[in-house]
Amino acid sequence: MSTIDKVLARIDTDLDNSLARLFELVKIKSISTDPAFNKDCRAAAEWLAKELTGIGIEASVRETDGHPMVVGHRKTGKAGPHVLFYGHYDVQPVDPLDLWDTDPFEPRIVTRPDGTKIIVARGSADDKGQLMTFVEAARAYLAETGDLPVDVTVLFEGEEESGSPSLHPFLTANKDELTCDLALVCDTGMWDADTPAISVMLRGLLGDEIIVRAASRDLHSGSYGGAAQNPNHIVASIIAGLHDENGHITLPGFYDGVIEMPEEVTKMWDELGFSSEEFLGEIGLKYPRGERDRQPLEHIWTRPTAEVNGMWGGYQGPGSKTVIPAEAHAKFTFRLVGDQDPDKIREAFRAYVRSKVPADCSVEFLGKEGSRALRLDFDMPALEKGRKALSDEWGKPAALIGMGGSIPIVGDFKRMLGMDSLLIGFGLDDDQIHSPNEKYNQKSFHKGIRSWARVLDALAND
Ligand code: BES
Ligand code: MN
Ligand code: MN
Repeated sequence: MSTIDKVLARIDTDLDNSLARLFELVKIKSISTDPAFNKDCRAAAEWLAKELTGIGIEASVRETDGHPMVVGHRKTGKAGPHVLFYGHYDVQPVDPLDLWDTDPFEPRIVTRPDGTKIIVARGSADDKGQLMTFVEAARAYLAETGDLPVDVTVLFEGEEESGSPSLHPFLTANKDELTCDLALVCDTGMWDADTPAISVMLRGLLGDEIIVRAASRDLHSGSYGGAAQNPNHIVASIIAGLHDENGHITLPGFYDGVIEMPEEVTKMWDELGFSSEEFLGEIGLKYPRGERDRQPLEHIWTRPTAEVNGMWGGYQGPGSKTVIPAEAHAKFTFRLVGDQDPDKIREAFRAYVRSKVPADCSVEFLGKEGSRALRLDFDMPALEKGRKALSDEWGKPAALIGMGGSIPIVGDFKRMLGMDSLLIGFGLDDDQIHSPNEKYNQKSFHKGIRSWARVLDALAND
């Protein structure tokens, strides 16, 4: 038996233990955006550092101004590339809690009518299940051979779901320690349940929040209605004016830097046979929104967006209350592609908002720094190796896909450390990440572990 076959066999026999370990991690309520869970975030970091050290990747919990990082190292003394593995141990909040069938932090395995097994829990897919695929692959490799095929540094962060505020300073302060030949990132999805994928494009993200203020207090809508400004209406008109009737975003200069895909790429994607009926059908919808002259695969992969993630103002309780509120709020995010510049777009957005706010009213902005989109180099040698390893495991060629979501660190790896990333993940569109009843397919977990063992093996060999 070859080394890799022995490692794969060990992964298969150890699956139940791997699942038990994942459950331990998932039970820790590491919600990064809510300070009430600060202790849990630290507990998750400590659990991971101990686990890594236990398998032979010497790791420690490292302080930041926010939630701690976990950094681990394993030097092999072999000649091959040195890889950095990245994942995030933090998870999204669980609300609305009443839509969960069971406790989000009590993981369980459910067998669905078609026989597939799923692991249901917050973080099962995003990103604890995914990062554990790598840890378990490394564990099997080390246990079977006493070593890893390549030098490995591990970096786990606890603030990905809150925009990674501590990451810049941490990368700057530990540049030498963290700069490797290649980053491996497990936080993305497959093409479908049988087809593995490598994501070659990530959208950037820019968020802003507005508070529009009008009268100096809430008003009686009879005594003042018609005369006094209503901030809910101002916010509504700001939102309504962001898109034209063709779904295009109206901010001046917004599309500067948006790049059309080369024909070879669109051709490859055409061959994937994407069905927008299925894609939208699974979430109870039918008709694509977004730019009228574009396809849904473009809407989610290659085109920029403007979305309102939340809006509130005035009376929200039961029954009615005849009031004109003093202020109204909205939260916006823009997904960015190509070379779109988040700073310029923030300026254009704010100028637009100000132009819609009457002279006797005011607006406050609460946005943070944005991240740019990223396109990986299609000629990167590691891409072919990763692709081959995945194809060997899944018995099907790995697709090169775009990705609608954002992982801010991948851009920083490139721009701050000069390091390319290989984005391999085993999530599926129906995993319900960030939503109630998040799940990860047991098959994704099991074959994900096997896939990383193969990828590490392939990276070591020329
Ligand atoms: N894992 C996701 C990114 C993702 C989403 C990958 C969908 C594949 C498919 C990541 O954890 C995430 O949620 N990112 C946020 C970033 C934000 C909170 C700064 C996102 O994309 O909204
Ligand atoms: Mn994630
Ligand atoms: Mn996420």
